[in-house]
Amino acid sequence: MPTSPDVLRRTGGRTVKSIVYDEETIAAKVSDLGLEITRAYPTGELLVLGLLKGSFIFLGDLVRKIERPLQVDFLVASSYGAGTTSSGHVRLLYDPETRLEGKHIVLVEDIVDTGNTLRRLLGVLKDRAPASLSICALLDKVEMHAPMPEVRFVGFEAPPAFLVGYGLDHAEDFRHLPFIADLM
Ligand code: IMP
Ligand code: MG
Repeated sequence: MPTSPDVLRRTGGRTVKSIVYDEETIAAKVSDLGLEITRAYPTGELLVLGLLKGSFIFLGDLVRKIERPLQVDFLVASSYGAGTTSSGHVRLLYDPETRLEGKHIVLVEDIVDTGNTLRRLLGVLKDRAPASLSICALLDKVEMHAPMPEVRFVGFEAPPAFLVGYGLDHAEDFRHLPFIADLM
């Protein structure tokens, strides 16, 4: 399908292969996830930990759909390079300031690909003795990784394509798109 003028205006003329999840589809899914998380934590302290930068839009929408008390913090991990495949190296650039001990932690990630980013972070976070540690990922490329029991809340099982928009970038571009598109 040809890229629409509306999309081309937002991308600066870069064509996309297709829109995989439109705004309405994403909003409905985020509402469902919020409800699921609300029900999963009837008691205890809940800390929603956003993995920057990719989760920034998702996290903002998600926490407004969780109808119970919670706290929000962020952490920053960076994988090297601007390519379209994940490099396997992860650096921790910002460490959450909030105390993690004894809290139920939901780590919010935009997309799970090989799972390397998350595996590294889970080790670091488990050392801080949270009451529980689960992952909420908007997108999960399930074919790209071995099963990960911590990935408890999943929006969509994503195709093995390179996706951009709603927080997801390609070399820092396209994070602002309100939909998720297949770039290639
Ligand atoms: P993993 O460590 O291989 O699971 O890669 C996870 C990270 O790679 C995500 O947090 C994204 O930043 C990035 N990533 C993986 N797949 C995509 C994609 O399709 N589009 C944009 N970023 C992606
Ligand atoms: Mg990224």
